[in-house]
Amino acid sequence: MKNPVAFLFVFYLLLSSCTGVKKDEPYVIAFSQCMMDDVWRQAMLLEMNIEASNYDNIRIVIADAKESNETQIKQIQQFIDQKVDVLIISPNQSDSITPIAVEAYRKGIPTIIVDRKIGSEEYTTYVGGDSYEIGRIAGEYASAFLPENATIAEVWGTKLSSPAQERHLGFINGLKKKNVNIKTVVGNWRREIAKKEVSQLEDFNDIDLVYAHNDVMALGAREAISERDSALVSKIIFLGVDAAFGKGAGLEAVANGLLNASFLYPTGGDQVIRVAMKILNKEQTDKKYILNTAVVEKNTARTLLLQSDQLINYQNRIEQQKRNIDMLFQKFSMLRHSLFLILSLLALLLFFAIYIFYINRKINKKNKQLHIKNKESEEQKQKLICLNEKIEQVTSQKLQFFTNVSHEVRTPLTLIVGPLEKWIKLTPESPLLSDLKLMKKNADRLMRVINQLLDFRKIENNKMGLTISQVDIVAFTENVMSLFEDLAKSKEICYEFASEIPTCQIWIDQDKMEKVLTNLLSNAFKFTAVGGKISVQIKDGPDKIYIALQDNGIGIDEKDIEKIFDRFYTGSVPSGVGAGIGLHLTQEFVKMHQGQILVESVPNDYTIFTIELLKGKDHLPDCFPLVHPEDRVDLASTSLNVEKPDELLAKKYNYTILIVEDDPDIQTYIQSEFAPNFSTLKAGNGAEALAILQSENVSLVLSDVLMPEMNGFELCRRIKSDADLSYIPVVLLTALTDDSQRIYGVSEGADDYIQKPFNIDFLKIKIIRLLEERKRLQKRFMQTMQAGGIPIIETEAKIESLDELFMRKFADLLDVSYENTELNVEKISEELGISRVQLYRKVKEISGLSPVDYLRNYRLSKATTLLNQKRYSVSEVAYRTGFSSPAYFAKCFKSVFNMTPTEYVSQE
Ligand code: FRU
Repeated sequence: MKNPVAFLFVFYLLLSSCTGVKKDEPYVIAFSQCMMDDVWRQAMLLEMNIEASNYDNIRIVIADAKESNETQIKQIQQFIDQKVDVLIISPNQSDSITPIAVEAYRKGIPTIIVDRKIGSEEYTTYVGGDSYEIGRIAGEYASAFLPENATIAEVWGTKLSSPAQERHLGFINGLKKKNVNIKTVVGNWRREIAKKEVSQLEDFNDIDLVYAHNDVMALGAREAISERDSALVSKIIFLGVDAAFGKGAGLEAVANGLLNASFLYPTGGDQVIRVAMKILNKEQTDKKYILNTAVVEKNTARTLLLQSDQLINYQNRIEQQKRNIDMLFQKFSMLRHSLFLILSLLALLLFFAIYIFYINRKINKKNKQLHIKNKESEEQKQKLICLNEKIEQVTSQKLQFFTNVSHEVRTPLTLIVGPLEKWIKLTPESPLLSDLKLMKKNADRLMRVINQLLDFRKIENNKMGLTISQVDIVAFTENVMSLFEDLAKSKEICYEFASEIPTCQIWIDQDKMEKVLTNLLSNAFKFTAVGGKISVQIKDGPDKIYIALQDNGIGIDEKDIEKIFDRFYTGSVPSGVGAGIGLHLTQEFVKMHQGQILVESVPNDYTIFTIELLKGKDHLPDCFPLVHPEDRVDLASTSLNVEKPDELLAKKYNYTILIVEDDPDIQTYIQSEFAPNFSTLKAGNGAEALAILQSENVSLVLSDVLMPEMNGFELCRRIKSDADLSYIPVVLLTALTDDSQRIYGVSEGADDYIQKPFNIDFLKIKIIRLLEERKRLQKRFMQTMQAGGIPIIETEAKIESLDELFMRKFADLLDVSYENTELNVEKISEELGISRVQLYRKVKEISGLSPVDYLRNYRLSKATTLLNQKRYSVSEVAYRTGFSSPAYFAKCFKSVFNMTPTEYVSQE
């Protein structure tokens, strides 16, 4: 079914041939008439039509020559040219028409000569009456009435036409026995002419009989005679020829007595058509069909007239029926066409139905195939997904393994670096000092490598985030530079720092920016020869800060410059770790700050790395926490800055630190290091720690995160959600470096989060500062509260009005509900319509205290007011200020005021 149009066409042909839509062209029967306007020829036409109505495959075409030979010749010629199927000629004058009639015959056109004859035998058939015989009978008939020596007026038809000549000859022969006197008049077959010619005769009185070659001329003669002498016509016998029916024709005239008799000259109209049909049907025909004649007198005429009336009647009925049939045929033809149309439409419908069925089947087949293919591809996809999952699993396991190994390495490294630092510090005179320093230096290097690898993995996993804080970039850079001072001295390198501005606060992730500077500086030292020069310069731009590190080391080839920041690129410029990730990390860290790092170098002359950092913090993503808890300690510790680290570490503090750590080595190491400064307690995991907290008075919990049974996060959450323990600060200590985990820890309420490996002194200082700062903040808090203000942190950063508004709302909430013991952080965050993490961040940022501490201090401040009033007992005050028990109230009170509530009351 490739071409539906072709199919339809073939179908149409088949259908049309079946329904017989195409009708055969009818045969053309051409009739050349010498004249038409007399009754005999009208009767001839009528008879022809009656006969023709029997056939539906003929068409009769008639040409009227109007008695002109030339016209008739022309018309016959046209019929010849048209190659008509049959040609009927009724010649005007025999001699003139003979040649063209013969030509038609010779050209193969069946030629029928009718009525008048031609002067040749070259025609197919002749049909006509016997004019000679008619004349003869008329002669015999006349002689019966005529006296001796009678006078006859003979009215001739056209002299050159065969019937006129034959009728004359026949008549003369019929009269043979009589002596008659004949007056000749030529009427040319026409009534008027005959009348005129007869009227021109001098005398009618002697005329006994008028014999006209046709009835109409006989009537014309009668009229002429009657006009001259009406009495005369009754004495004269009038004879005509034709006896044709029709108005004013012979039959009527005989019946009416106008003519005495007429001699039948049949038109042969019906016979001509029959003969033509025979010819068309290729049937044998006679050369001549001579039609019968008879005398028609009054009675016969009447009968014939009746018959002819009936005939005409029949004909009319036939014609009416023909018209009806034609109409029916039209209707039938319309119906047939409609049927054809309907059948065509049905066929079309059928075709389309088949086509649609076929297409449908095809589509179904295709669908099935597609379905199978889909299934296959789905299976393949599933397999690929499975495989991918496996690969991902394996990769993640590998990476996890890699990370775990790194962590595993870091913990023992911490335990190597810590004691090493101690030895170096305690045995400055030792002969092993240089070896110890070498060990320390390499351990540090190893640590850096491990850290870089972990950072790299975090960046690859998209787990690296920024922890930004506001920093004086000038002091910060100088600080990082100072780490390399010893190295500069030992390599005799001219190590310089210059800044266009004395100070500039910008927002950075200190940890990452320190790594950036450290990496660039250690590279510079690595590739600058002894006695070389390394300088760092800070330049100030309208919205940017530029830190340019310049050295005069070996430099970088132009072709390498583009690639030095690529991952694992270890071209001619070795990167920090030798694995090609140092500079890559450096660039990634700078990019995370929306900054950029540019390099310019002339080998063996100079190399400049320029870090561009934007001022402000709008360009930085919404980092959490904006202020790192570690930094908070530093930031808040301004009042402690007066005391130098060594001085801080030299003191013994009245704090009990609970060390929660599952690694016994680290636990022991921390405990031994803490012993000179704090009292310590130990727990192997979170659960053990919780048990200890129930019975012991702990100042701070220092906990590892990854531990069996209960991890550090869970421990932190439990402490912070327990009303009796929530005041205890928690510092999380872990090798995990993911920011997300740090954020998680902080959101669980951790007060600080310190990364392994740590410098033990740094850790101790952090703890001291945290605890001292808390004490100081609590005191300030109390003072502020009692002065009727809202405690906020001392910071250079401006508190925005929105923050103030928030704090006002927060304080208002506490004011109306602090007495409710059920009030906790969850409730507060619910009431304020913010998350716990947001609440923590905001309150901590603005006040320096966690929401839990803020609430507890708020209650304590209200409690001191009540205690001062001396209207309530200590227990009453505890319940009135929302503490769950007097014992817990006492514990909290002591941690802030260093005395019990009872002592406080009695002190006054
Ligand atoms: C008619 C007619 C007839 C006559 C015949 C002879 O035109 O004049 O009256 O019989 O032609 O051809």
